Amino acid sequence: MGKDTLTITDNRTGKTYELPVEHGTIKALDLRQIKTGPEDFGLMTYDPAYTNTASCKSRITFIDGDKGILNYRGYPIEQLAEQSTHLETAYLILNGELPSKQQHDEWVFNITHHTMIHENIKDVLDGFRYDAHPMGMMLAAVGALSTFYPEAKQVRDKAVRRDQVFRLIAKMPTIAAFAYRHAMGLPYAYPDNDLSYCGNFLQMMFKTAGRYKVDPVLERALDVLFILHADHEQNCSTSAMRGVGSSETDPYSATAAAIAALYGPLHGGANEAVLRMLDEIGSKDKVPAFIKECKESGGDVRLMGFGHRVYKNYDPRAKIIKKMADQVFEVTGRNPLLDIALELERIALSDEYFVKRKLYPNVDFYSGLIYQAMKFPVDLFPVLFAIPRVAGWLAQWEEMLEDKDQKIARPRQVYLGHDRRDYVPLESR
Ligand code: CMC
Repeated sequence: MGKDTLTITDNRTGKTYELPVEHGTIKALDLRQIKTGPEDFGLMTYDPAYTNTASCKSRITFIDGDKGILNYRGYPIEQLAEQSTHLETAYLILNGELPSKQQHDEWVFNITHHTMIHENIKDVLDGFRYDAHPMGMMLAAVGALSTFYPEAKQVRDKAVRRDQVFRLIAKMPTIAAFAYRHAMGLPYAYPDNDLSYCGNFLQMMFKTAGRYKVDPVLERALDVLFILHADHEQNCSTSAMRGVGSSETDPYSATAAAIAALYGPLHGGANEAVLRMLDEIGSKDKVPAFIKECKESGGDVRLMGFGHRVYKNYDPRAKIIKKMADQVFEVTGRNPLLDIALELERIALSDEYFVKRKLYPNVDFYSGLIYQAMKFPVDLFPVLFAIPRVAGWLAQWEEMLEDKDQKIARPRQVYLGHDRRDYVPLESR
């Protein structure tokens, strides 16, 4: 049986070092002792985009990208999507275990009773132009919440933290629905505590005059989509949440940073980009030409909703969503863009370019089609990603705060700029 160590020989000096290996990693700081002389800073790793660097130890989400496995706290995503609810899954992600009946009821009660937002937040939303992107509105409104709950700064106090967790999970759908109604020029529809998390969200979005009747199939479909989006380990927005939170800023400010990261088209903005791409392609017969354009562009034109940094197999979330689409379309009618999406998938999965690069549909490829059939406008799609993901962000943020190994995030750099040089006055340049 070998030893759990790594032996490194520095060919610059001929010296040998033995470093401990734990959980398949070496500590980057252990490399610092490897120097060419007393003036040398010591060896570092160079890893732009953190493609091979573990930034934390986590017990929340497990992904095996080659096998297409996703588990929250050990429970397979397929079982949670089939049997759990989003709020129960959020409890699991945040607390580590499934709740007892009493814990579940208290949790749901607490979240349901924090769904109202301060009236002044409405004024924040009213200040935006009618065509403001709702993700920008959400980012601002969540950041603004930090000024309404100044006690949230006490990030080392668990009880205070818990209150902000209730508030953030509860208020995200309210902010999202209000942002939508602002764009539509509709009066805000206030939360209804008799409805489920998703039922309430649907009524806040779509209620017009009279009572809004929540369709149980759409309510459940939205809940399942929320379960699938609840966490995804150390992605760009979660790393933003952890990185910004590591300065011990309040969770609203850190969540605003995470929302900003999610906004980008390579991350949570991809579901919106998929729909715009399908619209642009326009019909099934134009799919081969689009695929050709993707391949010839050298990565500039991308098949949105395809590829993933971690999954090198079919994204398990995309599988579940694809199956669910039929149930939703039975209620809403078939989304005509589905035919284009299916044709894109069919061609891409047999095309050498995509096969060689292991590019498979990801979570965003089919989710937009469902959201659009449910009458959510396209620019609200990233917001629909942010609502459930706040559970994951908060769980990762708390795990970071409780982790003795963590400190304020502060990467190193390899400086390649000028050596010291003297300032030249303007008239001499
Ligand atoms: N369409 C066409 N080519 C692609 C695509 C794509 N969607 N994705 C990657 N490639 C190519 C890329 O051009 C490169 O080719 P080459 O080796 O010839 O230079 C190769 O595949 C590797 O790509 P990469 O950019 O190095 O891979 P990455 O791990 O850095 O990027 C990604 C991952 C998700 C950003 C990328 O696949 C992408 O841009 N996909 C489209 C956007 C998208 O759907 N994003 C949602 C991700 S899932 C939701 C979430 O978690 O945020």
